[in-house]
Amino acid sequence: MVMLLTGGAGYIGSHTALVLLEAGYEVVVYDNLSNASRESLRRVERLTGRTLTFIEADIRDTARLQKALTDHAVDAVIHFAGLKAVGESTEKPLAYYENNVGGTLSLCEAMTAAGVHTLVFSSSATVYAASDDMPLAETAPTGRPTNPYGSSKLMIEWILRDLQAAQPDWSIAILRYFNPAGAHDSGEIGEDPNGIPNNLLPYVSQVAIGRLPQLSVYGSDYPTPDGTGVRDYIHVMDLAEGHLKAADAIWGQPGVYTWNLGAGTGHSVLDAVRAFERVSGREVPYRIVDRRPGDLAQCWANPQKAETDLNWRCRRSLDDIMADAWRWQSQNPEGYGRD
Ligand code: NAD
Ligand code: UFG
Repeated sequence: MVMLLTGGAGYIGSHTALVLLEAGYEVVVYDNLSNASRESLRRVERLTGRTLTFIEADIRDTARLQKALTDHAVDAVIHFAGLKAVGESTEKPLAYYENNVGGTLSLCEAMTAAGVHTLVFSSSATVYAASDDMPLAETAPTGRPTNPYGSSKLMIEWILRDLQAAQPDWSIAILRYFNPAGAHDSGEIGEDPNGIPNNLLPYVSQVAIGRLPQLSVYGSDYPTPDGTGVRDYIHVMDLAEGHLKAADAIWGQPGVYTWNLGAGTGHSVLDAVRAFERVSGREVPYRIVDRRPGDLAQCWANPQKAETDLNWRCRRSLDDIMADAWRWQSQNPEGYGRD
């Protein structure tokens, strides 16, 4: 079976490429390298002992995408490509809508033209309405996201539902990720953010390695056990395995399926910092600062539906996430380098 991964050179895509290659799939990565390095895929090939096809191109180039789907006899697409920095999206809304929403329209047109009708999409827990009622099941109401990035994810969910209603032979999985973190346990591939990280785990790792002086903890007055924000951290390898299970489950089963991919447990910022310090043996200096605008107090998943439908659940712990994030960071203090 041939899988095309848009954005497959990025953080989650590269780990998913590895899992797919190990499971015997043929993998075509289609990525414009706007937020990734070709080196991630070289390492995936080295770790698996298999080769993949890499196409450096943009998903908004519909003709190029259609050619890739046809030339490689692609069976299914996993759609990771997009811009993901929440703060940047409020400064550049048009770029986010153009890339994420426009890019997805282009992908759907190319897939229609090439006769490929199986799609797995990277959505986010950010589509849920803010709620005090945790954990979040897929039936929880969606909200009005507080930033264009989140809105783009919700818009794409609507577009995919409308597409499937109009063309009922499509099989579409919408995967709502909670907080992906960690790295492959070899320490060879991991998260390599451009510039100063926005997300907690890469920030903590860069403080531990000495690239950044200290962590700012955004608020300690939330209504949570220790006052800091609570999130559901999911190991990126568990997440990658979820994609394989979802793609298998929807193959030949037309419909739209929505699954939460989360661990089902909430951890506070200070829990995460302490776990990181414990497994790395490094101190992570931090100071408490004001809340970050748009942040929720708490967010964690009810992952029961994925367990029932896909026979999938997270197998790796918070300590595994921290140990693997630290192995990646300490073996690659400067990330991949951008080549
Ligand atoms: P990433 O930035 O590492 O990967 C995205 C990849 O898409 C990059 O390799 C980038 O070069 C590529 N890309 C971007 N625009 C493109 C375009 N127009 N054409 C071709 N390639 C393009 O991000 P990630 O963390 O691996 O996230 C993957 C997906 O999962 C994204 O859609 C993201 O929104 C979603 N997601 C991520 C998180 C998270 O916390 N990491 C949470 C929820 C959802
Ligand atoms: N945090 C800090 N300091 C930092 C960074 C984060 O205290 O330097 C805190 C945040 O306030 C939050 C927690 O750590 O309480 C996690 O923050 P992240 O930025 O790592 O993750 P978010 O939950 O804010 O956002 C993530 C993804 C988004 C996605 C969202 C919901 O980055 O793409 O989950 O799925 F939309």
